[in-house]
Amino acid sequence: MLRPIARSLLLAVAGVAALAACHPGAVRRPPLVTKANVALGDSLFNTGACQRCHGKGGVGAANAPALDGKKWLQLKAGSYDEIVTIITEGVAQTAIKDTSHRFAMRARGGPMNLTDPQVQAVAAYVWTLTHK
Ligand code: HEC
Repeated sequence: MLRPIARSLLLAVAGVAALAACHPGAVRRPPLVTKANVALGDSLFNTGACQRCHGKGGVGAANAPALDGKKWLQLKAGSYDEIVTIITEGVAQTAIKDTSHRFAMRARGGPMNLTDPQVQAVAAYVWTLTHK
């Protein structure tokens, strides 16, 4: 026989599964995409190094692609975790796909030297650019 706690846990899991099944196409908002993180990320992105290469609002510029998800050069699906990874690690010169982009993307925004929480905030902002 199941203990009551185990039973309610099972019910909760079944509930979440049922909810997910009702919305097959919906992309769940990642937990770190909070209002506060998006606001902080917006300010870091649009005043820091990111916008110098990617343009204000991530619309793209001479040295880096638009972050609108129409055609990812580095990311596969544009998931939150992928965005965190690329901001943390950067893009080496030899890994650049479109050679009109002349400069490597440095890890953690280069001179911005983003902390993990700041990387998460910038990633939250970038994620919202493709998930309105
Ligand atoms: C020195 C210029 C430069 C700076 C500064 C820079 N990037 Fe990049 N970024 C690039 C280049 C170059 C690529 C790879 C483009 C390619 O492969 O042709 C890239 C790729 C990306 C991608 C993946 C895009 C795709 O199409 O897959 C993301 C997301 C991204 N950058 C976010 C950021 C964020 C956030 C910041 C600030 C913390 C930042 N970048 C700062 C140059 C830059």
